[in-house]
Amino acid sequence: MREPMQPSDEERIRRRASFDGVADVYDWARPNYPDALLADLLAESRLDSSSRVLEIGCGPGLLTRPLAETGASLTAVELGPNLAALARARLSGFPEVHVVEADFDRWDAPEGAFDLVVAATAFHWLDPERRVDACARALVPGGRLAIVDTHWGVGAEAGRFQFDVQECYARWNPGYDPSFVPRTLQDLPIRRPELERPDLFEPPRLRRYSVMRRYFAEEYCGLVQTFSDILRIESERRAQFVNCVARLIETRFGGAIERTDTYDLWVVRKRNVGRRHE
Ligand SMILES: C[S@@+](CC[C@H](N)C(=O)[O-])C[C@H]1O[C@@H](n2cnc3c(N)ncnc32)[C@H](O)[C@@H]1O
Repeated sequence: MREPMQPSDEERIRRRASFDGVADVYDWARPNYPDALLADLLAESRLDSSSRVLEIGCGPGLLTRPLAETGASLTAVELGPNLAALARARLSGFPEVHVVEADFDRWDAPEGAFDLVVAATAFHWLDPERRVDACARALVPGGRLAIVDTHWGVGAEAGRFQFDVQECYARWNPGYDPSFVPRTLQDLPIRRPELERPDLFEPPRLRRYSVMRRYFAEEYCGLVQTFSDILRIESERRAQFVNCVARLIETRFGGAIERTDTYDLWVVRKRNVGRRHE
């Protein structure tokens, strides 16, 4: 499975906007975050009804709901109008949740206003030059920045599907890299230098969660249609790619595949005293 490569700024800005065009598919196809990750995130950030949370890139609200259920007041900044509308609809029962349609990179975040700033599968789409400082500035001293990264299809070892599906990428994805090898847990980073900022934060903490999932062909084909590397393929070729994957699962895997997805939860606590942010 492919993770977003390190795209150029232009490519990053184009690809991060692509989710909004498939907002409805995104809403049904993306699986929930693992319970253990949610439990650790809530425990570590000590959320309760007095907490103030900023979520960046909430999409249709996959992580937003469990955060809102704590009773915390929550501002969610979402770039895509369709995704923001879906999040508003999904969270209409939570009067303390406000979805703001905006580009976080240009949004004027209130300074020192949040106990938790969180981004789920969204941080890597933000401007790498300013995202860490912008989040730190929005936090109260002692507040937490939590980043969830999703590593689709990454487990202890790559399964046969991960290798066989390369046929579909090779045939239909013009950006196919023939040297690509499916990643495993040992390829994942265990350091995140951008968070190693003693001027702003205490040392970062990483927790990792792997979840084995069974996807029927239709479910998996829905999921791949929400990946930004697939969304950049021209629509006719993309449809052919999805057909190829569906056929592969039906003919070679009996209609369903099992794969492991891995999630990283990075948490850093803002120092109580430190350099002032200008
Ligand atoms: C992969 S989706 C993750 C959505 C959601 N957090 C989830 O876990 O399902 C990335 C999200 O970040 C949003 N996004 C990307 N860049 C953004 C930015 N600069 N400001 C606000 N939202 C952004 C996208 O529109 C999309 O909803």
